[in-house]
Amino acid sequence: MIAVFALFHIANHLASLGGVETHIEFMRVARLIYRQPVVEGLLLFCVAFQVLSGGWLFLRGLRARRGFVPWLQAASGACLALFLLIHVSAVLFGRTALELDTNFYFAAAGFHVPPNQFFFAPYYFLAVLALFTHVGCAAYWGVPEDSGTTRRLALGVPIALGTAISLVIVLSLAGRLQPVEVPAEYKATYLP
Ligand code: HEM
Repeated sequence: MIAVFALFHIANHLASLGGVETHIEFMRVARLIYRQPVVEGLLLFCVAFQVLSGGWLFLRGLRARRGFVPWLQAASGACLALFLLIHVSAVLFGRTALELDTNFYFAAAGFHVPPNQFFFAPYYFLAVLALFTHVGCAAYWGVPEDSGTTRRLALGVPIALGTAISLVIVLSLAGRLQPVEVPAEYKATYLP
């Protein structure tokens, strides 16, 4: 469920390359599905389960974990869990307490009120990269041990793709790839 949502979610952010309006229109249609109370409730349950079960696996393997890929898998999972906790809380808070439409501008606002861009650029970059790295680690274990090159590709290709996609999304939110004019009510959340 998280994988399907993440696929559409990343595609949604890439749609901003066609302009902010394209991103907002993509989200309007996607919300017709994931904002259905049953679907959203299930998605949020899956996110909570993923964070808790991943956190448990991370802690359980602390002493026993050896080698580069096991640690990459654990570190990317921990990054993703921490991100999901902050990210989903922020989105729900923005929607309910701040009564904002949590669209492209909600995600981009921090980039346009200095010095918050120094937090948001690595925050979003590492989140998307962690997602692709974590999937790459799962793919790595799925390839038999004796197929060395295929195994390395199963990990390396998602990481390379994730790096490129993260960079494009962050540059787009920062308004470096297309014009972005964040409305004042979104910027106000970062002002004293
Ligand atoms: C650059 C990276 C990202 C940005 C800018 C971003 C932005 C957003 C925004 C604006 C929303 C609100 C959507 C709405 O109101 O309809 C949202 C929701 C959400 N995002 Fe992200 N996101 C990013 C990456 C991720 C990743 C990697 C995940 C992990 C799978 C994720 C999981 C979620 C979840 C679970 C929700 C809540 C959906 C809901 O219940 O409405 N996001 N995100």
